[in-house]
Order: sequence, then C-alpha cells, then structure tokens
Amino acid sequence: MKKARCILLAALLLAFAGCRVGDAPAADSYDPLIVVGFSQVGAESDWRRANTQSMQEVFTEANGYRLIFDDAQQKQEKQITAIRNFIQQGVDYILLAPTTETGWDTVLGEAKDAGIPVIIVDRMIEVADESLFTCWVGSDFRKEGDIAVAWLEKQFSGRAVNILHLQGNLGSSAQLGRTAGLDAGLLKHEEWTLVARESGEFTQAKGQEVMEGFLQFYPEFNVVYSENDNMSYGAIDALEAAGYTPGSDVKIISFDAARAGLELTLDGSINLDVECNPLHGPRVQALIEQLEAGQTPPKFTYVEETAFDARTITQEMIDARGY
Ligand code: AHR
Repeated sequence: MKKARCILLAALLLAFAGCRVGDAPAADSYDPLIVVGFSQVGAESDWRRANTQSMQEVFTEANGYRLIFDDAQQKQEKQITAIRNFIQQGVDYILLAPTTETGWDTVLGEAKDAGIPVIIVDRMIEVADESLFTCWVGSDFRKEGDIAVAWLEKQFSGRAVNILHLQGNLGSSAQLGRTAGLDAGLLKHEEWTLVARESGEFTQAKGQEVMEGFLQFYPEFNVVYSENDNMSYGAIDALEAAGYTPGSDVKIISFDAARAGLELTLDGSINLDVECNPLHGPRVQALIEQLEAGQTPPKFTYVEETAFDARTITQEMIDARGY
C-alpha cells in the first residue's frame, strides 16, 4: 500500500484506539495521489518528445497522480542519480525509460530494497535478476529491423545493395534490435554490402554530421538504413546538399514513423518508415492500475506496430496518427 496512505491509516487507527493523533505521523502529510517518478532518456528525437508528452498527459493530478519527471539528457549516470532521488522521496512507482540495456543491477536493487515497484518503458534492460523490475512495456526492436530487411529483400530481389548505416545510441535496445535485423540480412545476402556504419546518436544534427562524413569517403551506395527519423532528416539534408535525390537514387529506410517522418515518406524522400509507437502513457497507467488492484500484470508487453511504404502511404494515414 502507498506509504502516504499508510500514514493516514495509522493515524486513524491510533485515534480510534484512544491515542492522540499527535502521537502518529501528521494526518495532513496524507497524499491522496499516486506518486510516480519517471526517468526519461532525454529529448533527442520527435519520438522521445511524443513519449514524454504521452506520459505527462496521463500522469496528472486530475487522474490521481503526482508525476516527478527527470530528463537524463541521454546519460545513464543521470538516470541512476534520478532513481536514487526517487527512492529518497519515497515515490510509489519508478518508471524508467533506459538509455542502455546494461548497468542497472545495483540501483534497481536499491529500489527493490526500498519496496518500490519499477516499470521499464520503451527499451529493455538486461539484469541478472528479473525480479529487479516489475514489468516492461515497449517495442520489439528486432522485429522492426526484420520488417525493414524483408522490405529491402523485396525491393532489390537479388540486385546489389550497398548500405550506409546510421545507428542509434550504441547499447540501447532500439539500436541493438534494428542493427541485429540488418546484420541478419547481411549474413543471408552475399549481394548486400555494409559500406559503413556509425552512430548518429538518434539526433538530427549528429545524423547529418555522420552522413556528411560518409559522403566524403564512400561514393558507392544505394541504401541508407537510418535507425530513427531524426537521423534520417539530417541524412536527407546532407544527401540533398551533395546533389543526391533521397528516395530515388538512394533508398532511405527509417524508423519511428513520427509525423514529419511520414510526411517525408508521403513526398517520397523516405521509402520505408517502420513504426515505433511512443504513446506509452496509457499503457503504463493500465499496468499501475493492475498493480494498485493487487493484480499481477504481464511481465512483458509488446506493442503492435506496422510500417509505412512511400508507395502506399496516404495523407489520411498521417492524419490518423496520434504523434
Ligand atoms: O527507444 C526508442 C528510440 O529512441 C526511437 O526510435 C528514437 O527515436 C528514440 O530516440
């Protein structure tokens, strides 16, 4: 039971037992709201901002929550500090959107010792003891990579594919899964060549910088595999500045399917945008409601996702998106 609610219950029990309420913790310290500490990766992409907004829209006082939000600026050490602060503040739940998969055992052990349930959102974590987190909700990033590779197989069917690969933050599930999908495709197809790969850190600026670097050294390529939309925006700018026509002489595969990404898909600059759905607020709320009701939610919840092809996308599909 929520700590603040326990304090109220203790005060009431003492009052009924003839004790002075003053002997118990002050009843005015009762907080009827469920306090949720959310450690967010950062604000590196359209996806991330939509994810933050989704959480902030759900965890409101009107809905019975007090949200303590922390932006870690893509740094795991900041997330570890935030989690320790949440523990000190005695929050009811810790929500963690992890930067990387590894390195969480110690701090989540501290949360477990404090009796605070931890819900992992978006990316996955790798811990020796899975009881360190209560449950997880997010995307199947490997499946996203497999969808992209299946599309590429169909497009090129046996023809040479020379790939420039913009990776996300190394060690994040989104990077690991999407890269693993591509690597499986490369193993399967001897006519496919990985020309170069480098991390663009999921940002537009870095995506553009890395693509500009690629263009200086690698003139022979016909595919850009970019692990998120923001890096694709930067890559498209770099390609256009160098005289290429993205989507035509270079096929662009992107991930997220954020609104601006889909608009670029509609205009043909992105050929395929694989969905990664950021609207986790209501999903996490449903998990908390189950826990509050004393139920055991599923340990892992994968979100259903699709992909958008430049040849079949419509404006109506874009308008129907919630992000
Ligand atoms: O973990 C989800 C990924 O992180 C999204 O693809 C990317 O845009 C974000 O920064």
